[in-house]
Amino acid sequence: MRSIVYSRTGDSSVLTAIERDLPQPGPGEVRIRVAVSGVNPTDWKARRGGTAVETLGEVTPNQDGAGIVDAVGDGVGSPGVGERVWIHLAQHERPTGTAQEYTVVPAERAVPLPDGIGFDLAASLGVPAMTAHRALTVHEDGPDRLSPGALAGRTVLVAGGAGAVGHAAIQLARWAGATVIATVSSDEKAALARAAGAHHTVDYRSEDTARRILEIAPGGVEHIVEVSPAANFALDTTVLANHGSIAFYADNGGGEATIAVVPAFAKNIRIQGLLMYTVGQRALTAAAEDITAALRDGALPVGEDAGLPLTWFTLDATGAAHDAVESGAVGKVLIDVSGDNR
Ligand SMILES: NC(=O)c1ccc[n+]([C@@H]2O[C@H](COP(=O)([O-])OP(=O)(O)OC[C@H]3O[C@@H](n4cnc5c(N)ncnc54)[C@H](OP(=O)(O)O)[C@@H]3O)[C@@H](O)[C@H]2O)c1
Repeated sequence: MRSIVYSRTGDSSVLTAIERDLPQPGPGEVRIRVAVSGVNPTDWKARRGGTAVETLGEVTPNQDGAGIVDAVGDGVGSPGVGERVWIHLAQHERPTGTAQEYTVVPAERAVPLPDGIGFDLAASLGVPAMTAHRALTVHEDGPDRLSPGALAGRTVLVAGGAGAVGHAAIQLARWAGATVIATVSSDEKAALARAAGAHHTVDYRSEDTARRILEIAPGGVEHIVEVSPAANFALDTTVLANHGSIAFYADNGGGEATIAVVPAFAKNIRIQGLLMYTVGQRALTAAAEDITAALRDGALPVGEDAGLPLTWFTLDATGAAHDAVESGAVGKVLIDVSGDNR
């Protein structure tokens, strides 16, 4: 089978295509014939400077993907052979990412797909949707699970609504009944955030962002999904309601953030970090279950009309796919591994 690998960190030129034997699933694992591999910032960051190659040796990149289970190891009840699945954390603490024709993952990282869900959508879920789910379920007084109505009566601010995580956060918050405000940096990104389901968009580069948000939500927003704490903690503190929460998941815009202490404690603000790799199985299982319910409701479409343009690459062009994500491609970058998904 064809596999993309790297055995030293560096730019995308460290990625090479090789032929290797089919991997066999061990106890508790499943083997998946990969249809589509999804690329996220974490994949190029790990390749460029992560520790995976030191601990794992030769690594096949990409955490997310989708395909069909074609073999299962001892003790696996679900998913079964022939089931269509979406894959998350394929390469977490193991060298078996999705940039290859077959991959082997622990069974709980391969989630059965409802009927009618395409592999393009399925490979877009993983990191973005699970991060968004966690970010929407860690607030004081808010629900720890998502379902229709779970966020009814709440206003959620999604920073960077045209990003991959931002897109998933808008869709899941909207599905759960929240009023959704998204910040964006251009008219084009505003159109994408609205297509994803945002009720309101605010251009943080050209508008008085705090004033606009407080015009929309005069009592403040209950919850914020934050991609750039360094740039936005001051804004967030200003627009949060009493007992509001910030869930932050990235360091875009800088690795140090400051917060105005008195306004933050006077509003009883809660600040919650999150990282998919360390959040724990309970949160991942909850996210997978709720995302499956949202998929059944048709709440997570992809493509330009749904606010997430897709950019496709071939398996042999995995390096170019990584470069596209690293240079800030808008929407979702996907690799058509089986060659029949575009
Ligand atoms: N903690 C975790 O487990 C976890 C999980 C997933 C992703 N991440 C990290 O999260 C980040 C985003 O991932 P992604 O896949 O969503 O990337 P992406 O698709 O490139 O989106 C990034 C978004 O951030 C927005 N942004 C940057 N600065 C902003 C600011 N000051 N205010 C508002 N929006 C701002 C950008 O919008 P503009 O261009 O319009 O500014 C862009 O839409 C990456 O750093 C990734 O490594 C972490």
